[in-house]
Amino acid sequence: MKKLPKIGLLYLDYVLRFFDKSNFKGWPDKIETVTYHWGNDKARFINEVRRKEIDVLIGNIPATAYETFREIAAALPNVRFIPSIETQFSNKSKENVTLFCKKYGLSIPHTEIFYDKEEGYNYLKTCKYPQIIKRSYGPSNYGGYYVHKVDNYEEAKALLDEKKYIPIYTQDAIPLKYKGDIRVMLIGHKPVCAFWRFAGSDQWITNTSQGGSMSYENVPMNALELAVEASKAAKAEYWACDIAIDENTDKAYILECATAFAAFPYIRDWIGQYIMWDLSEGRFRLPHVPLYSWEELGKISPSLLRTMRHIHFAKYEPSADGAYWLEDKGNFDMEKTEPSSPDDIPESIKPEDEDKLPEVVKETLYVKSDVEVDDEDEKFELKDITLTNLLTLQGIDEDSAVKIKEMIDNGEINSLEDLKQYDFIPEVLIDSWKKYFKG
Ligand SMILES: Nc1ncnc2c1ncn2[C@@H]1O[C@H](COP(=O)(O)OP(=O)(O)O)[C@@H](O)[C@H]1O
Ligand SMILES: [Mg+2]
Repeated sequence: MKKLPKIGLLYLDYVLRFFDKSNFKGWPDKIETVTYHWGNDKARFINEVRRKEIDVLIGNIPATAYETFREIAAALPNVRFIPSIETQFSNKSKENVTLFCKKYGLSIPHTEIFYDKEEGYNYLKTCKYPQIIKRSYGPSNYGGYYVHKVDNYEEAKALLDEKKYIPIYTQDAIPLKYKGDIRVMLIGHKPVCAFWRFAGSDQWITNTSQGGSMSYENVPMNALELAVEASKAAKAEYWACDIAIDENTDKAYILECATAFAAFPYIRDWIGQYIMWDLSEGRFRLPHVPLYSWEELGKISPSLLRTMRHIHFAKYEPSADGAYWLEDKGNFDMEKTEPSSPDDIPESIKPEDEDKLPEVVKETLYVKSDVEVDDEDEKFELKDITLTNLLTLQGIDEDSAVKIKEMIDNGEINSLEDLKQYDFIPEVLIDSWKKYFKG
């Protein structure tokens, strides 16, 4: 029997783990793990992958580490990343999602992205309304915290004067059917789970964590088809799309797509099984997930569904009376993905050299909107702050966040004031962070 490739799971400190070894049930060989420690960890990480003789590194790379991992992948040309670095391009920012969709002609709301503030404001003077303005950078799913609806130029200007988002990312608002959008999850380009998410009664935005609701019923075929198209364009082993349906035309539009998404363990089991099939040249069985089976699974209470593992469907063998449900509706097959290549990545629209940008622009590239944080409970305690929270601070970069985290953990600083003794963060910036901290 042919030797199986050596699998490594890719982890990052402080980042939730999508996969666990248990998702690869039955894999006969040892599964390695490699953890990236942030900061200056590239060389050590590369060496560990080499030393453990890993052939396949499986896992999602968060937005803040995307560029670093492009370099790491380049240094490990014989290691297959699942999903590939190119496939994960859309994880980095909304700008990237848009560039990806434009390159592959996927249906999206009309979207404009401006690094030049004047140009952006000029566009907003003449475009149609409502517009949805978003902060482009960073992980998505802040639950709409950085997503704003504006009804005219005055509102757009007031918003951007305050938030100072660069790039200015603005798109036509789609009149949402049922005031909701649709999440579709795919494995090997086959939809395996899909549901509507509806806005709460006082919201325009669909946010299930703030009183919105969801339904596994009646996900339209054109949403599934668009998600499959995107998954194929991304060459994604696994993929999720958020899709809006225009209530007037029923046309489907991609709002977001990525390999990073929240999924119940049984879905991650299916992904693991799919990957084992892919890597073993058929020694492992492809998971069989009937289309629309989510409508039935969705009837199980979420608390129970969350604990269910390794759900298995056998293929339907027609014998007695045709049981409609066991027959696979639609024509989607789970397939092997095409290998990615570097020119899959869309061309950048970001100004050549970020450093040449005026200082104010640079600072807002990674901006957390400086909304006032009134609620004392929502403020950070310096000693308990996570790296993820540090990375949301205005004007901070990855290396500084890591350095500050280390200093806190080592007891070198006990307050923001202490940080001023060191010279890697400007004092004005430190002062601007105070409103996010207790005390
Ligand atoms: N162009 C749009 N038209 C209508 N609604 C939108 C549009 N873009 C976003 N939304 C709504 O805002 C929600 C959050 O937007 P999204 O781009 O998914 O940001 P995030 O999930 O990162 O907060 C969506 O789920 C959808 O309900
Ligand atoms: Mg979203």
